[in-house]
Amino acid sequence: MSKVTVVGAGNVGSTVANVLAHKDIVNEVVLLDLKGDMAKGKALDSWQQAPIDYYSTKLKGTDNYRDTKGSDIVVITAGVPRKPGMSRDDLIGINAKIVVSVTKSILKYSKNPIIIIVSNPLDVMTHAAFQASGLKSNRIMGMAGILDTARYRAFLATELNCSPKDIQAVLMGGHGDSMAPLPRYTTVAGIPVTELIEAPKLKAIVERTKKGGGELVKLMGTSAWYAPGAAAAQMVESIIKDDKRIFPVCAFLNGQYGLKNMFLGVPVKLGKNGIEEVIELKLNKRESALLKKSADHVNAVIKVFKKMKLV
Ligand code: NAI
Ligand code: 2OP
Repeated sequence: MSKVTVVGAGNVGSTVANVLAHKDIVNEVVLLDLKGDMAKGKALDSWQQAPIDYYSTKLKGTDNYRDTKGSDIVVITAGVPRKPGMSRDDLIGINAKIVVSVTKSILKYSKNPIIIIVSNPLDVMTHAAFQASGLKSNRIMGMAGILDTARYRAFLATELNCSPKDIQAVLMGGHGDSMAPLPRYTTVAGIPVTELIEAPKLKAIVERTKKGGGELVKLMGTSAWYAPGAAAAQMVESIIKDDKRIFPVCAFLNGQYGLKNMFLGVPVKLGKNGIEEVIELKLNKRESALLKKSADHVNAVIKVFKKMKLV
């Protein structure tokens, strides 16, 4: 029996629940939101899709944490998204309180869940949940890298007019404009991307990736949900099935990459114990400097969180 709770039944949370239901890999998905009727409605709508799309995953919408009892994995998407002109960091004032209180409420009913944070500013909200929960660091992580690399891979597939399935890539750093896509570790069906796309074009794609979230906010007036929802569901899948897939994930660093006591996007192995390994790449000077710059940015926002004295 496996049970997953998704907190926040807005754009991203309801997508996570719907994509997970389609994967047919857990027995029950609970969708919890302050707006209980909306959570109930979205869960019911997804359940009514089951006979059409052929899955058995049960879905329950609620505003009551009792219904989350015994969850194996919890995905937290509760909080406000950004509007045009805002950075993810601007959300900290509202979202930090929400993430801390949601994490504490979850732990009243599930003793040792694995928690995946989606709410922004992602790296700092993951840190906040870690501190609020007291869980071991392998059981707390944030979703960003799968989404950011997916954007990078999609842009590359468009440029090369090939299937995105054949593009493999790594991206490191925080979920912000200082993230670091790594062309040296990007391949197209095994061929280094640097042999297929000229440097200036590749640079432009990297820059577009860094601002990929903002591009969508400008278009839609709010942030994205299809790719973010699918990315969080992919993390759940690797954990539930103990697939040990390797993804860029916001993970706790305890000396890796010369960084200590912070959460940042790095390649990890995801299995039944959550983060089972942080993979350390041999970065060159330029790549290390990019990662350091991104870490400095995240640490500056951590300072703002600490001043809020919520944990
Ligand atoms: P949304 O506004 O559509 O949904 C958020 C939901 O959270 C709302 O239904 C709201 O009622 C609920 N909520 C607020 N406070 C709550 C609480 N205390 N308990 C339970 N539910 C609560 O927003 P959307 O688009 O789903 O985005 C959610 C968060 O995810 C935002 O912070 C956004 O910035 C972030 N995000 C992160 C991404 C990433 O890559 N990590 C990608 C996309 C969004
Ligand atoms: C995104 O990258 C806003 O974090 C959200 O779409």
